[in-house]
Amino acid sequence: MSMGMTKTPIIHPSVLCADHGDLKGEIKKLAAAGVDYFHVDVMDGSFVPNFGCGTEIVKTIKKHTDIPMDVHLMIDDPARYIRHFYDLGAETIIIHPEADKHAARTLAVIKDMGAVPGIAINPGTSIESVKELLPLCGHVLAMTVNPGFAGQAFLEYTVDKICTLGKLAQQYGFALCVDGNVNVEKVRRLFPMGVTNFVIGTALFQDNYLEVIRDVRAV
Ligand code: DX5
Ligand code: ZN
Repeated sequence: MSMGMTKTPIIHPSVLCADHGDLKGEIKKLAAAGVDYFHVDVMDGSFVPNFGCGTEIVKTIKKHTDIPMDVHLMIDDPARYIRHFYDLGAETIIIHPEADKHAARTLAVIKDMGAVPGIAINPGTSIESVKELLPLCGHVLAMTVNPGFAGQAFLEYTVDKICTLGKLAQQYGFALCVDGNVNVEKVRRLFPMGVTNFVIGTALFQDNYLEVIRDVRAV
């Protein structure tokens, strides 16, 4: 886990966007390309209006690589499943505070288990409403789209909040990651604001992996 001082952007390919007909091949190619994490979008059809990756995909990733996994739980009452994903090998576990009546407790449990605790901050969620949780986090995922689907448009109004979070990341020592329509141009723009980690879905998978990864690393 890299904190605020990172010199090179940290890359989290979104497994949701991979070719699931050849998941093993995709994992191997991404690993060979030198990605830092595998970002796994778990959805329950309730907290968000879609279904995403589940247990089997997490197992497949673990079977074929040692690269760490950050599991983004877009599910109601995530405390029910943190042990489950930890046991499957998740290194970082991210919850949405809106989905948890006791987010502070859940983050403490994730930490006690030995995983890195994280929160995702929706476009419509203010920093003020989650401020007490920030010191409990090793990872903060700033959403630049409303969660639930890959391939959506970047929400420009999230940038002010990201800029503020960039400063708080230095203060509290969490890794700041952005998720939603991230491409090389967004990395160029957000990295100087203190964003160290980038989830890349559509922009990575619809193009040549190696070129995109090389361009992101060069930022
Ligand atoms: C959205 C997910 C994202 C998404 C990223 O709910 O959390 O991780 O898959 O895909 P793009 O980069 O296409 O927005
Ligand atoms: Zn995600």
